[in-house]
Amino acid sequence: MSIALAVKQLTKTYSNGKKALEGVDLTVPEGSFFALLGPNGAGKSTLINILADTVKPSAGEVSFLGHDLFTERKWCKQRLGVVPQEIAFDPFFAPRDILKIMSGMFGVKPDMKWIDELLERLELSEHAKKNARQLSGGMRRRLLVAQALVHKPKVVILDEPTAGVDVELRKRLWGFMRELNANGTTILLTTHYLEEAEELCDHVAIINQGKLLTSQSMKGLLDNVGSSSLVLEYAEPKTISDDIKNKLADFCPRTQENKVILSLKKCDGHTNFNDAYQAALACWGEAISVNIQDEDLEDVFLRITHENQS
Ligand SMILES: Nc1ncnc2c1ncn2[C@@H]1O[C@H](COP(=O)(O)OP(=O)(O)O)[C@@H](O)[C@H]1O
Ligand SMILES: [Mg+2]
Repeated sequence: MSIALAVKQLTKTYSNGKKALEGVDLTVPEGSFFALLGPNGAGKSTLINILADTVKPSAGEVSFLGHDLFTERKWCKQRLGVVPQEIAFDPFFAPRDILKIMSGMFGVKPDMKWIDELLERLELSEHAKKNARQLSGGMRRRLLVAQALVHKPKVVILDEPTAGVDVELRKRLWGFMRELNANGTTILLTTHYLEEAEELCDHVAIINQGKLLTSQSMKGLLDNVGSSSLVLEYAEPKTISDDIKNKLADFCPRTQENKVILSLKKCDGHTNFNDAYQAALACWGEAISVNIQDEDLEDVFLRITHENQS
């Protein structure tokens, strides 16, 4: 397996003392479609901004296609495309011109055929000659994606590329990403849409509070974890006291609005459904409804981040 990105012991402490990353090790295989997941404030953007060279790490190493990302910047920049979460760009040109200029900045000759294809695929053709200032937020975000792809990078990194993009367009964007990936481009993205990460990505890493919790194949993650969870709905939200947390430690109790969710484990081929149900009854009394659902990525994500909360 060749490796697109190897992150070693990456650490970032911001000048105000905030530790955004603490010794993160991460390996992204070449050709993978890789999801980096984590709650708000987990450190995802910090990691990506370090890869994009807009944030300096406090410690650690990153190897990009076997080259040192920090000392061989130029080599890496020509083969890497990053779409940052924050929109920061020069609004004084038309999108088509911006893409031409960006090609030069990446050190490649503008490929107008590719630029027009990008404008088309990102549904910007109609706006190609407008001043970028006239573009809506969603269009600017797509233009950022086009910018990151203009030099046909081997590795593309997207930080919440579809935040605020409507469902239909989001699907088409994903379709385009899938094609790029099928043609050999490695894609690393962060997203809040866990369902889509589950559908699209073949690898997944979860970070929380600056620490890597897990990194593995999507299939491995979904196979390895408990098979289902018990969902109990109550008339009002329940709190999980430290006492209850200890009592129900086997079930990783967590809340979601008026629901309490308990993870069920298989022991000797039997699921400990009854144990979980009785324990919940003892803590919170009768529930309005009780359901068993298969764990999907969202449950896994909630459970893993919950288990690792300090
Ligand atoms: N420039 C900065 N200065 C100080 N703290 C920051 C800065 N940028 C981000 N942080 C903090 O670092 C943590 C990680 O943020 P971020 O990487 O943006 O997380 P995510 O993208 O996962 O939501 C958060 O607590 C955030 O408030
Ligand atoms: Mg972010």
